[in-house]
Amino acid sequence: MTNKMWGGRFASGPSAIMAEINASIDFDRKLFAQDIAGSKAHAAMLAKQNIISKADLKAIHTGLDQIKTEIETGKFKFSPALEDIHLNIESRLKELIGERAGRLHTARSRNDQVITDVRLFVRDAIDHIDAGLADLQLALAKQAETHAATIMPGFTHLQSAQPVTFGHHMLAYVEMLSRDRGRFSDARKRLNENPLGAAALAGTSFPIDRHMTTKDLGFDQPMRNSLDAVSARDFILETLAASSICAIHLSRLAEEIVIWCSSQFRFVKLSDKFTTGSSIMPQKRNPDAAELIRAKPGRIIGAFTSVAIMMKGLPLAFNKDMQEDKEPTFDALDNLALAIAAMAGMVRDLEPNKDVLKAAANSGYATATDLADWLVQNLKIPFRDAHHVTGRIVALAEKKSCLLSELSLEDMQSISSGITKAVFKVLTVEASVASRTSFGGTAPVNVRRAAKRWLKFPKGK
Ligand code: ARG
Repeated sequence: MTNKMWGGRFASGPSAIMAEINASIDFDRKLFAQDIAGSKAHAAMLAKQNIISKADLKAIHTGLDQIKTEIETGKFKFSPALEDIHLNIESRLKELIGERAGRLHTARSRNDQVITDVRLFVRDAIDHIDAGLADLQLALAKQAETHAATIMPGFTHLQSAQPVTFGHHMLAYVEMLSRDRGRFSDARKRLNENPLGAAALAGTSFPIDRHMTTKDLGFDQPMRNSLDAVSARDFILETLAASSICAIHLSRLAEEIVIWCSSQFRFVKLSDKFTTGSSIMPQKRNPDAAELIRAKPGRIIGAFTSVAIMMKGLPLAFNKDMQEDKEPTFDALDNLALAIAAMAGMVRDLEPNKDVLKAAANSGYATATDLADWLVQNLKIPFRDAHHVTGRIVALAEKKSCLLSELSLEDMQSISSGITKAVFKVLTVEASVASRTSFGGTAPVNVRRAAKRWLKFPKGK
């Protein structure tokens, strides 16, 4: 049997293998709501321009609404023989309203139809992701406010470096996510142009009004070049690039959480809601959600790579290759949204172990820089010399197995005679973080202020 939607000039139908490689209905059915919205806008415009009659429009709208309900309620029968979501819907429309259905495809092609659908879909996905990111920022900022003065070791090279506050660490991620949201909002701006009306590739001789469908579908303007309209996929690449960067950010926090909740670190406790047990080791509490979030960049960067390589070197305009843009895009956007939601849940429930964090901050001579700074400011010696003196004091503390703050004044003076007892004010981790009041520094006053700002303007940048 030839394809009943386009098989006019064909004597026979496709081979089974051809049908299988050609069909996209198993994945592009996800576009049904966008496809119906696009078709309704197109039909309304055709009627307004007197290209189809008001009666045709009414029948088409009623039919499309019914199809939407059928799909939403699982009653719709998808047919692989009809290839894709566009032909499945149009064919059902014909069953429902008869020959009038055939008028819907006037001045349109599946080439502009499909990419209108995908633009609408990606736009919705970006809005969903942005809302998720705003919620995650709130969860992080709330932890930051609560733990503005909770001291933990700050790391470089995963070695204790200087004390910081837990809140400051949380807010670092709020900043990253803010830039992610900026990238998504940029991508959204550029993708929000209407390709509908480009038809197959060259535009159409019908007197269509592309500004009307643009307005109806919430686009900012019609795309200016019909060849570009049907063949551009850079909005997908841009969104997947933003998704990749965002997934990388989430994976860094996920990795920290995995490390922090290990029994070697015990920095934080995760709730039962975001951990699993082991079927063999009863004592275990595994951070599966964090590990899965850590894994997501694999498939999300993979999606970017897959679409980029699919697009590379494609001549204008539409090529069937482009059908392969959908599965990776859907998969990446779904998984990113899920990872964001899981991270927000995990962060909300997470409990820092204050005592462990403080003890860790105290080990590793994390206030050595504070000592060196004190020497510079009070003994007026160059920083390089102060660094050397401090190194010798650290070595002495190491030898005596004590904290810097536990050395006696005589111990200190045996290395640098000018040191006075005032030095002890800067050697505690509390004093260290409190002194970091420079713009963007970790001092609790800064952290509290920044957290409050984020909590007040969750939509803010
Ligand atoms: N299923 C196709 C896609 O996903 C729709 C466009 C098909 N156009 C065509 N001329 N065969 O891109």
